Amino acid sequence: MAAQQHKETLPRHVAIIMDGNGRWARKRHLPRQAGHVAGVNAVREVVRAAIDAGLEALTLYAFSSENWKRPAIEVGALMGLFRLYFRNDIHEIAELGARVRIIGNRTRVDPDIRKMIEESEHQTAGNTGMNLIFAFDYGGQEEIVAAVRELARAAKEGRLDPETITPELVSSRLFTNGLPEPDLVIRTSGERRLSNFLLWQSAYAELLFVDTLWPDFGRAEFMDALEQFTQRERRFGALPEAVA
Ligand code: FPP
Repeated sequence: MAAQQHKETLPRHVAIIMDGNGRWARKRHLPRQAGHVAGVNAVREVVRAAIDAGLEALTLYAFSSENWKRPAIEVGALMGLFRLYFRNDIHEIAELGARVRIIGNRTRVDPDIRKMIEESEHQTAGNTGMNLIFAFDYGGQEEIVAAVRELARAAKEGRLDPETITPELVSSRLFTNGLPEPDLVIRTSGERRLSNFLLWQSAYAELLFVDTLWPDFGRAEFMDALEQFTQRERRFGALPEAVA
């Protein structure tokens, strides 16, 4: 496989904004929910491809904190799909050696979903393969605010000297603590926005916007994205090596 030839330049962590389910359905004169159902199949294929490629982490934006504003019927359908996914797919994910983590606000989701999330994390906690992270009821600004609030509280109580606050300390208070930062953020469906996704963590990420609608994004498209990443020159604010 082409991407494996560049193992050293492969991203460690890929994060995906899975967009375009609704448009995929509309093109077929189907209800939006049908697009989400097709989207779950794409999730399955991309998770397997990411494991096969040897990634350390894959983060999928499954539900944003703003998605609650969608019509109740669509929110209900999405929650139903999460239930099915966590019930049916977790065994295979566990067998593949992946370790599941959910990032986001757990207080707003139904208690049964919260329980499933906790069980899937617990069940895979000892695995040493790829970290499979679902951003679920997730908002990047909300995540940063929570971290800042925690640090401010510690400072107010005299447990933290504000002068010792560093990017690393802030990072350690985010949901993604312990994970490598995403090297590559992909958004499908031609939209070019981050939509409150991993705002802090993506500071140096390569951004890749592809026109493919999420339900049509499979193994081949994923491997192509990895290949495109290997062609990019990452500078982290420094000069290119040839010039330096
Ligand atoms: C964006 O498409 C997609 C979402 C808001 C939800 C993503 C959910 C899935 C891929 C399925 C469930 C996932 C798991 C992990 C079980 P959109 O509806 O905004 O599409 P549009 O922009 O074309 O309307």
